[in-house]
Amino acid sequence: MSARVIGQRIGAVLRTQQQSIASPAKRYYASASTAASNLPASEKSAIEREASLPNSDPPSDSQTTRLVNSHAPFMVPTYVRPPPMFHKGEGCYIWDVENRPYLDFTSGIAVNSLGHCDPEISQIMFQQSKTLVHASNLYYNPWTGALSQLLIEKTRESGAMKDAGKVFVCNSGSEANEAAIKFARKCGRTAQPDGSKHEIVSFHNSFHGRTMGSLSATPNPKYQKPFSPMLPGFRYGTFNDIAALPELVTKNTCGVIIEPIQGEGGVNVATHEFLLALRKRCNEVGAVLIYDEIQCGLGRTGKFWAHADLPAEAHPDILTTAKALGNGFPIGATIVTDEVSSKIMTGDHGTTFGGNPLGCRIAHNIVTRLSDAQLQKDVLKKEVVFRKHFVRLHEMFPDVIKEVRGRGLILGLQLNADPTPVVTAARERGLLIITCGTNTLRFVPPLVISEEEIEKGMTILEEAMEFVFRRPVKV
Ligand SMILES: Cc1ncc(COP(=O)(O)O)c(C=O)c1O
Repeated sequence: MSARVIGQRIGAVLRTQQQSIASPAKRYYASASTAASNLPASEKSAIEREASLPNSDPPSDSQTTRLVNSHAPFMVPTYVRPPPMFHKGEGCYIWDVENRPYLDFTSGIAVNSLGHCDPEISQIMFQQSKTLVHASNLYYNPWTGALSQLLIEKTRESGAMKDAGKVFVCNSGSEANEAAIKFARKCGRTAQPDGSKHEIVSFHNSFHGRTMGSLSATPNPKYQKPFSPMLPGFRYGTFNDIAALPELVTKNTCGVIIEPIQGEGGVNVATHEFLLALRKRCNEVGAVLIYDEIQCGLGRTGKFWAHADLPAEAHPDILTTAKALGNGFPIGATIVTDEVSSKIMTGDHGTTFGGNPLGCRIAHNIVTRLSDAQLQKDVLKKEVVFRKHFVRLHEMFPDVIKEVRGRGLILGLQLNADPTPVVTAARERGLLIITCGTNTLRFVPPLVISEEEIEKGMTILEEAMEFVFRRPVKV
């Protein structure tokens, strides 16, 4: 199909969406009830059920599905996606091409912390896109340095990473971890020029990315097996297992990478005792400690960094960030101590796009706002609202809900059952929510979400759980 025809199809879907603005809720009901009149009772009731849902997934004969199917032959099938197609966002809402709003408890996997299409960020994007987008790292620009300085100042002010000294800016979380792994290897090589100190330790249920280095640090067979063998020199331990540390982290270890709160792995929180013991063990063997705060950092826990509560003795040598750093614009950063930086020489590492003035100016605005003390206090207040609803859900579904984990606005609700039907039922009622780990519902909404929006989303979730777990059984 030609680009022009595809363009016309997208235009047609969006025009339908414009027409349906006047009566979006009625659209399905009207067509469904007409179509249903001559059908067998079972199909009729299925259609009526769909019609009664505000956001029932687009059916196979919808314009959305036709558009999805017309694009599919051209896309590497790396993702399984639900049927709706999203085309615009504002604040905590995102709209599908049929113009139906969804309250977004996912924020693009912990990315849109300041909400969708934040006007201040849009303005900055526009301004900077007219000024300078990219000139490469062959030359200086005002924003890579300004962002680096701000990240260091805000990190020190926040009480986290006491020796934060310098920043390497890149384009994604995987790349931030890739730099961290390479920097740890360089530190190991500097300490032991024979190359024996090269091992990287990470933990089960962690997620550090999809590039070969960050994937080698992500011991999940689902992600690693198709691309094996992994890089040599990676070892895996059990999260929060202090007793295993002496055998796991040895004189051959150059670096240890850990998420203070595991996101993808199920919202598992590292204990202070474990992180203190890990830091101590790294000091004993001369290994670099890397905290991956790509998902849990930048205000999500109610602190600028998730590890800010830890005593200084447990602070890392390297801290990685991405996701919320660009609020959707691709950017990542690796923050290191001056000690680590002193081992990195000109030419050791680099990137074409990383540190471009557009991304760095955007991130500069975002860091300024996400480091705001009031925003962080509000995150903790919003956590209380979520937790109140979790208590209620537990009372309603005592056999289904096992546990709540997490801090601030990175929260996990551990179920005894597969949460996928709940995710679908919530979506069809106008709420986007994601899973993680094993049977865990993950709550990572925009940090700017209002208490009313939390109430609304949790009411939808309650209805979805009612539907999934209390549905009358057919005999
Ligand atoms: C903790 C953590 N580290 C690294 C990554 C990889 O980031 P990216 O997908 O931007 O490469 C992710 C992504 O989910 C993550 O959650």
